Amino acid sequence: MDDLYGVIGDPIAHSMSPVMHNAAFRDARIQAAYGRLHVSPEGLQDAIKGIRALGLRGINVTVPHKTAVMPLLDEIDPLASSIGAVNTIVNREGKLIGYNTDGLGYVEGLKKHIKGGLSSKEVLIIGAGGAAKAIYYTLASLGVKKIDLTNRSEGKAIDLIASCPMDIESHYYKLPQAELNLHHYDVVIQTTSIGMFPKVEESPLRVGMVKEGAVFSDIIYNPLQTSFLKQAEQKGAVIQNGIDMFIYQGALAFEKWTGVTPDTDLMKDVVLKQLGGS
Ligand code: ATR
Repeated sequence: MDDLYGVIGDPIAHSMSPVMHNAAFRDARIQAAYGRLHVSPEGLQDAIKGIRALGLRGINVTVPHKTAVMPLLDEIDPLASSIGAVNTIVNREGKLIGYNTDGLGYVEGLKKHIKGGLSSKEVLIIGAGGAAKAIYYTLASLGVKKIDLTNRSEGKAIDLIASCPMDIESHYYKLPQAELNLHHYDVVIQTTSIGMFPKVEESPLRVGMVKEGAVFSDIIYNPLQTSFLKQAEQKGAVIQNGIDMFIYQGALAFEKWTGVTPDTDLMKDVVLKQLGGS
């Protein structure tokens, strides 16, 4: 019998996780099937019981369940616990363990674009939502030199910085101030939904001067190049879109489930085809 896997969320119809994971299973010659599972907030508790009863081997968790699912699991990995969100569940002989591979997946992709180690890097994160928190805490746990934060709502950003369990140099700046300071940073990470299809002309801030060799990245992958990234490229920055984060968070989940490292180039190809890109 095939091992069963899936992604739970609401909405879930447009998730590209099935096409990516099924391709990776085929390529690794693992007998498994991965499906989209629509689960409403009211149905979450029953869905987790169902995972146990049906013996699903692994689950990805997406919006809006990443935090709500945590008390329903048997064990939470420390990084997921500090982030306060789970995106991957491993069913280890009936015990459901929650992990967060979003931040580590992001960093895996980022490493391909930066020169030198992370410890010398000064980073600016735009946004203070769930994705920003996963990336911030993961970078902090990996010993980045400094992480500043800018966000529309000041309180949310200050809470995020204050609740980080790792000791790291970090300041909050209002968006106009961050815009003026952009050229100080080695890495600038855009984590808000601004610029996502269909509002592709929008950008959280205007990109002026950038530091030599700086990497500007956006976690959005639809469109593949946001207005923010277009501006950064014009100013000479190295740019990175959100595809890598999506691929590597999936690859890390796949490894946790199967013990096999999947072919990330293949995963990227199928996702880009699905998006209609090149
Ligand atoms: P996710 O879990 O995907 O990160 P989220 O938790 O809803 O999503 O966070 C969305 C982020 O995008 C927040 O930083 C939000 O800013 P606020 O904290 O001020 O709400 C930011 N964001 C979304 N729409 C925005 C907009 N129109 N202008 C400025 N910031 C916006």
